[in-house]
Amino acid sequence: MVRRAALLKMLAIAAVAAVITTLVAVLIRWLPPSASEQMDRITFTYWFATIICIGIFSLVIGAIVYSVIAFRAQPDDDTDGPPIHGNTRLEIAWTVVPAILVIAIGIVSAVVLSKNADAGRNPLHVKVFAQQFAWRFEYPGGVRTDELVMPVHRGVKFEMTSADVIHSFWVPQFGQKQDVLPGVTTSIVVTPTKTGRYTLICTELCGLGHATMRAPVRVIQQAAFNSWLSKQQAASGEQGGGATTGGTTTGATTTGGGGANEALGSKVFASSGCGACHTLTKTGSDGQVGPKLDDLAPAAQKAGKSVGDYVRQSIVDPNAVVVSGYQPNVMPQTFGQSLSKDELNALVDYVSGEEAQ
Ligand code: CUA
Repeated sequence: MVRRAALLKMLAIAAVAAVITTLVAVLIRWLPPSASEQMDRITFTYWFATIICIGIFSLVIGAIVYSVIAFRAQPDDDTDGPPIHGNTRLEIAWTVVPAILVIAIGIVSAVVLSKNADAGRNPLHVKVFAQQFAWRFEYPGGVRTDELVMPVHRGVKFEMTSADVIHSFWVPQFGQKQDVLPGVTTSIVVTPTKTGRYTLICTELCGLGHATMRAPVRVIQQAAFNSWLSKQQAASGEQGGGATTGGTTTGATTTGGGGANEALGSKVFASSGCGACHTLTKTGSDGQVGPKLDDLAPAAQKAGKSVGDYVRQSIVDPNAVVVSGYQPNVMPQTFGQSLSKDELNALVDYVSGEEAQ
């Protein structure tokens, strides 16, 4: 009966430990609130493992605390402890039970991983382009945006690639996280369950502007999404159409449309992440990684070019002229390909300050 009393005491201590750890697990919000089906499953997996851990932890704490109290040596007791050999039953128990629990966690994780990779019937395909230090998205029909807009309750399959180094796609409330690699297409599935605004965060250290590499995310109703997408498609179709009709449209942009051009330039400056590295006072950016862009006339003169040509060359071929005090190969060399002609022209005008051109 002594053993039974000891066991009850151990279990009592274990129960106290279980209550305290459960409170720590429940009262502190460790994970962001879920906004996707995938995050729901990930949260379930965390709780499944956590509950097992609380059980094991509490039993171990019960045995330790009981032993420390019950078998405490007297201050004048210098004798050796009793020689104890193995306990076969105990050893089998502490091998088999954890093995079963670890296998159970493995099975749950495998099921969740495979479910989370399944986009279901009729997913929306969105291409993701990452580059230092910006995200871009391409929707069916070739619509490219800087904001990620998703319909609620529909699987979205992202196919992602990087223009330069390794980045990583992560929206905390969606749970899913996936590296974005140059030369490789990786994919990830997200099925949003709540409308609202979120932030896409790059979660792989990718260079000096890593901390600024974020993009806004908006989850809206399917109907609202459809009209958003067709509006975007119409807008990009208009742009293309304008370019083909030639003279008249070009004339309109140079005379009346200076404001539109400047707005596009400002947008491209922001979405391409220029401000992460460069100071340009009119944008409020104060990046210190690359040269300041406020007064480029002296540098352009030194390079023997007009400011516009100098800016264009520095965007498309950044190593052509490296300002003294700065390193080559820091600025991405991919903007010539990743920006459309209109975007590049607008950006050049915007940075050169040649609105009147
Ligand atoms: Cu891209 Cu960090």
